[in-house]
Amino acid sequence: MRVLVIGNGGREHCLAWKIAQSPRLKKLYCTPGNPGISSVADCVDIASEDTESLCNFARKEKIDLTVVGPEGPLVAGLVDRFQANGLRAFGPTKKAALLEGSKVFSKNLMRKYGIPTAEFRIFSELVPARRYIESINGPVVVKVDGLAGGKGSFVCKNTGEALKTVEEIMEERAFGPAGERVVVEEYLEGEEVSVLALTDGKTIVPLEPVQDHKALYDGDKGPNTGGMGAYTPVPLFNAGLASRVEKEILVPTVHAMKREGRSYKGVLYVGLMVTNTGPRVLEYNVRFGDPETQPLLMRLDGDLLGLLLATVEDRLEEAEFSWDPRVALCVVMTSAGYPGNYEKGREIKGFETLSGREDLMVFHAGTTLKQKKVVTAGGRVLGVTALGKDLQEAQKKAYEAAGKISFDGAYYRKDIGWRALRRLQKIP
Ligand code: AMP
Ligand code: GLY
Repeated sequence: MRVLVIGNGGREHCLAWKIAQSPRLKKLYCTPGNPGISSVADCVDIASEDTESLCNFARKEKIDLTVVGPEGPLVAGLVDRFQANGLRAFGPTKKAALLEGSKVFSKNLMRKYGIPTAEFRIFSELVPARRYIESINGPVVVKVDGLAGGKGSFVCKNTGEALKTVEEIMEERAFGPAGERVVVEEYLEGEEVSVLALTDGKTIVPLEPVQDHKALYDGDKGPNTGGMGAYTPVPLFNAGLASRVEKEILVPTVHAMKREGRSYKGVLYVGLMVTNTGPRVLEYNVRFGDPETQPLLMRLDGDLLGLLLATVEDRLEEAEFSWDPRVALCVVMTSAGYPGNYEKGREIKGFETLSGREDLMVFHAGTTLKQKKVVTAGGRVLGVTALGKDLQEAQKKAYEAAGKISFDGAYYRKDIGWRALRRLQKIP
């Protein structure tokens, strides 16, 4: 098969790396790709938003399957456009991608179909939003409706913070049209888990749960980021919880989308808060998670390309694969200043000593080539991902490897996996 992966992050490096191992693969392209991806695919410089050029490229190169990494092109309707041109693409259509494209849509869907989530109100005007926040007098979460690159949700500890946040969004329009409507929701306490499932609209195949670390600093402190590290499996996630998530969330969501005339196909990512009363949905994403995909696919024993193809061809009931029993853990290395402003173009050193290992992958996220040298080109730069016989070993290997890589301003959290470790050591 001739395959195209769209995107240039750590997730796409990981997808391309795993697809490259498929016995079905004849040729792999990635647009626009990055220096890490170029070791497994031919990278072609077409932007992920340039649907027209991507479609022309896929036609010209007779691509059998296109795998879309980021949410932007999905929400913009890339899959519909490809289908209209007789091309197969993995991911939901524009109508179905609204599940991530609009928080207002997804919250209303959950309310309508009784899918557990935080209580909420929707506002398109500042005055009633302000009045509502004042009436709550406690922590709330404020979210912009539209896509915001993972930066549109604010956990506000008190009324003052929440008022300031809605003012920035609705008065100063810090998020432009994405913030025309806001969701103000109940603050939930608990532990977060990401559950990704493949679905062709009728069969749902949940993948192993993963725990991301959204906050910038150790101990889950500081501002939210796109994700600072992740590991799988998740000790918190026992069989009882898995079964509740399937029955109370995954099945009703796929059913609801069908009932709404928005049949969902692709990978469904559910961001959960596991509360005292059970799992509740924080958000849906319509694509693979980043960095969740890195540890997840390190553990996948099976043909990813075959699974993606089975999803597109409505044959997911035939899916066959298993999970490596080892633990996988990914540490994200970032540029100083991320998630705010950061400098680019810093040379990255130390890759040589880490290549060729079965239990370790350094996935490139924000890198580029400058005068034949790999330099930083984004906030999240690398995802150092290791397999170990247990969490401690995976953690040790990932941190040892991260310690061998250097660039000016490199930063990473030192405690990825801390919740699992605490649970395993039975520390309350
Ligand atoms: P979201 O963009 O909706 O996934 O939110 C980003 C992050 O904000 C989540 O991963 C949580 O850490 C936090 N968050 C979102 N909604 C809530 C909530 N209702 N209660 C507590 N934390 C939340
Ligand atoms: N790591 C969070 C996300 O992919 O949205």
